[in-house]
Amino acid sequence: MLVQDAQEPQGVDEWVACLTYKSTATATPRARDIDALAGRARARNRSLDVTGMLLFEDGCFLQTLEGPPQAVAQLWSSIQRDERHDHIEVLSEHMAASRLFSDWDLLLEGRFGDLPDQRARAANTPPAVAEHVARLVELALNADDLALGTVMADLAEQGWTSDAILSLLIEPAARALGDAWLDDQCSELDLTIGLSMLQLAGHAVRYIPSAQSIRNSRYRVLLATAPGEKHMLGTTLLADQFLAGGWQVDMAFPESEEALTNQMNAQHPDAVDIGLSDAMPRQHALEQLRSTIEHSRLILAEHPTVVSVGGRLFAEAAATALSVGADHARKGLAGTSVRLAELVRQNRKG
Ligand SMILES: Cc1cc2nc3c(=O)[nH]c(=O)nc-3n(C[C@H](O)[C@H](O)[C@H](O)COP(=O)(O)O)c2cc1C
Repeated sequence: MLVQDAQEPQGVDEWVACLTYKSTATATPRARDIDALAGRARARNRSLDVTGMLLFEDGCFLQTLEGPPQAVAQLWSSIQRDERHDHIEVLSEHMAASRLFSDWDLLLEGRFGDLPDQRARAANTPPAVAEHVARLVELALNADDLALGTVMADLAEQGWTSDAILSLLIEPAARALGDAWLDDQCSELDLTIGLSMLQLAGHAVRYIPSAQSIRNSRYRVLLATAPGEKHMLGTTLLADQFLAGGWQVDMAFPESEEALTNQMNAQHPDAVDIGLSDAMPRQHALEQLRSTIEHSRLILAEHPTVVSVGGRLFAEAAATALSVGADHARKGLAGTSVRLAELVRQNRKG
């Protein structure tokens, strides 16, 4: 997230509670009813330091609330009692190191009488978000970098944080490109160009570095693709985030395990992140990754290093960090620098 990543890494006590639910409207609200609801909710949420989004479409609400646990609990108890909706179903409830939405509270409001393309709908993805993802995929496949840049600028203007753009749009778009290739809907060249386009788009959403975060520079991270991995989207986008967080960043795109472990040996980073493709599942790469991590640990035995892994495989929770011997598997790019800073701190204490 823009502001938090640019400051000191957060402590666990500053984590936010994050709740997403869907529900059914008991009566069809008119656009002005929704506007009134959103207006009142906006004021109350702002006073409670709660951010998030509310969507209404097709008779259903979908809402994410994030903020101090007590504030979210207080709102949640009001919302659950509200007779304007029923069939309330919690989709996810967790603590997070950073917010997905900026201090614009009810960011996305549903559209009325104008349903978006059904094809763009994925399970539990708000339609407005799925629409953005479909648009990014289309522009990436057409290598339309100018239009992509404009979309990014518009989203930033609407209040989307860089973390929200990464986790809700760019990472799902990369996976959609991978699926298009697996389904023979595009060539490998299209996939490669599409991923480079997403990379450009991701860089356009700059994390804002602050003078303070540069002064606080303490930790060193090596951001590497897994040996032989051609897709470098996640690894390059992480560099922006770590630099903004005040880290010293080294990058590696090694062809072999030896090249990677040599670089680790020369640099002794506090943390290393090894990324598999964000587009393709790469199940077959797990065994190799496990061996790479085992060898890295031997080489870095004198200098305890936090090892993080990422990529589509881990985002979809098909594999855990433990299965490859890593300390951390990132579900996505957002918040990685904050999480690794915490792990490095624990590592140094322990
Ligand atoms: C789908 C839905 C979402 C709502 N979201 C919020 C919200 O984010 N913030 C808020 O203050 N009220 C929200 N409300 C309104 C609350 O349910 C409630 O009416 C309002 O907070 C007043 O609460 P009180 O009756 O406990 O004082 C929402 C209502 C509905 C039906």
